[in-house]
Amino acid sequence: MEIKHVTVIGAGTMGNGIAHVFAQNGFNVDLVDVKEEFIQRGLATISKNLDRQIKKGTINEEDKDATLKRINAVVGTENVSAGTDLVVEAIVENKDAKLSLFKQLEKTVKAGSIFASNTSSISITELSAVARPDKFIGMHFMNPVPVMKLVEIIRGYSTSDETFEIIKNLSVQLGKTPVEVNDYPGFISNRILMPMINEAIFALYEGVASAEDIDTVMKLGMAHPMGPLTLADFIGLDVCLAIMEVLYEGFNDPKYRPCPLLKKMVAANKLGRKTKEGFFKYE
Ligand code: NAI
Repeated sequence: MEIKHVTVIGAGTMGNGIAHVFAQNGFNVDLVDVKEEFIQRGLATISKNLDRQIKKGTINEEDKDATLKRINAVVGTENVSAGTDLVVEAIVENKDAKLSLFKQLEKTVKAGSIFASNTSSISITELSAVARPDKFIGMHFMNPVPVMKLVEIIRGYSTSDETFEIIKNLSVQLGKTPVEVNDYPGFISNRILMPMINEAIFALYEGVASAEDIDTVMKLGMAHPMGPLTLADFIGLDVCLAIMEVLYEGFNDPKYRPCPLLKKMVAANKLGRKTKEGFFKYE
């Protein structure tokens, strides 16, 4: 089966990056969100990121125009094209919201197409229970999508070998490096990354050091390109909390307990870069 037409649902941080990468590699993309303004914001981000690529000399103005022309805005998930070959879901990290979306898509999208979720941590097997389990897969891109090479490909319990091969080859076509992972909470990336971020937040909460100093230790001492608290702000503290909760519930192990400070900051809507304040302030 050849993938020609792709539908990306959710035009936020990840969705616009995923649409960007598919369109840049010649795919026709429908970018779907619940409101026109969210899609326009996503398209503005794509345009800005394409400008950055022009400045670097990796693409030219014509490439930018061609990429943007391949992206079509679709308002409302009820308007997802029935004939699309691949759906990549990148909506909020909430199991009920994702289940309800896939239940709806199962009724409206042709039976042969593949459903992929960009979830950071929610079980692919559980999501696939409401829609075509053999054609359901995790396609976990990293942020920022146009820059980061990795795609974690998560096989649910019933994901077929054929579906896996199609998505693996597609990831290579997008210039990414796919890594095969089985379906357990947090997969590989977030099972290792999030407890480290959570521990950095505990260190701050317990007054071990300032946010700046915690990040400096990890940058200069461990050669991490950015400190864990800066990275948490970049990912979004709501996303970090949602992932810790999935790990905590999924393993039933107190070592994954989300730090109370993380919970408090999410309750205060201090979500990091997207709200201009998290562990650090942003202009
Ligand atoms: P975001 O909050 O930036 O964007 C989510 C978008 O989905 C919003 O535009 C929202 O309006 C839309 N949306 C919400 N419910 C919807 C629905 N029912 N139908 C259509 N659109 C809907 O979130 P972000 O950060 O892009 O995360 C999306 C997914 O990607 C989550 O599952 C997250 O765990 C995952 N992810 C996030 C990463 C990150 O660094 N932020 C990295 C890798 C995966």
